[in-house]
Amino acid sequence: SAAEKDGYDYFMLKEIAEQPKAVADTLLGRIDGSGVLSLDEVRISEEVLREVDKVVIVACGTAYHAGMIAKYAIEHWTRIPCETELASEFRYRDPILDRRTLVIAISQSGETMDTLMALRHAREQGAKVLAICNTNGSTIPRESDAVLYTHAGPEVAVASTKAFLTQLVACYLVALYLAQVRGNKWGDEIRDVVRELAAIGDQVRQVLGTMEPVRELARGLADKNTVLFLGRHVGYPVALEGALKLKELAYMHAEGFAAGELKHGPIALIEDDVPVVVVVPSPRGRSVLHDKIVSNIQEIRARGARTIVIAEEGDEAVVPYADHLVRIPRTPVLLQPMVSAVPLQVFACELATARGNEVDQPRNLAKSVTVE
Ligand code: G6P
Repeated sequence: SAAEKDGYDYFMLKEIAEQPKAVADTLLGRIDGSGVLSLDEVRISEEVLREVDKVVIVACGTAYHAGMIAKYAIEHWTRIPCETELASEFRYRDPILDRRTLVIAISQSGETMDTLMALRHAREQGAKVLAICNTNGSTIPRESDAVLYTHAGPEVAVASTKAFLTQLVACYLVALYLAQVRGNKWGDEIRDVVRELAAIGDQVRQVLGTMEPVRELARGLADKNTVLFLGRHVGYPVALEGALKLKELAYMHAEGFAAGELKHGPIALIEDDVPVVVVVPSPRGRSVLHDKIVSNIQEIRARGARTIVIAEEGDEAVVPYADHLVRIPRTPVLLQPMVSAVPLQVFACELATARGNEVDQPRNLAKSVTVE
């Protein structure tokens, strides 16, 4: 009913709008005033966590994209090798697991069969499993050694939005917690990140307040057949997520690519007026990547692409090559996905509406897939 949707036309719109609160709720009580994390719920002893020599993340769909992003954060902050794998592929390739492996299973519903089978396999091999889940008491957390709940509240729309952002928050909390218990160099960077994580909710709110041009752009692209997405570093999984949203909601052909791979194939797809969304890394910190992606934007534009550029405030280098420019607030490099994913959600939702699609219940999809 309209009341359940809080006056929004779709649950998806309501859930997009709830993201600042979902992020804040997921952080609540988990970091104290001096930046120390306490994850009491994670009932895996500090001793076991100190011994971990490999992290493997398993998940499906949007949760898999959160896991892909988490890999960058976990390796950067903890120096523990981390791989992220599609849950449906994981157990069929005889993965190397033992009691020093920490498997993180990410699932909004906690009922996805592929993810459940992956974690069962991991536990049989002696690995410890930590679930990151949004549904209290669901099967995946019940069968795991420990769980860190995301506090996104119930997510009704099939296409995941607020759960995704809170999965990122939870993964980052786990990464920082691992760094803390293992005594990884607790440098200024990590202290800053903890502080900036607390500011992300407000930055998401700021992005949400500037989305009208994105909606207008989406309406103008309703008769296109293809949209491509490019990103690099943590922006690469964001590009994949932007493409997934478009497939799920707009039923359009959409693909995400790592921008560095453009020259190895995908650039052949660029033709006149094909829309290409580019997620631009911060010009600070990883400036090499920034420069490289700016030349990618130049290259595709020279070949006729219509460039839709998502870039930080103050990034002036992209301006001459952006047919459409979407500004996001400055964040630390690893936190950018939490703000850059938001315009892509709004874009897909508006395109779906413009194409007359059912936003909350896309054809052929289910919110939770309980078969393998
Ligand atoms: C389904 C949904 C996706 C979701 C995936 C994983 O395919 O349509 O939106 O990302 O399952 O769901 P989970 O509940 O495990 O996060």
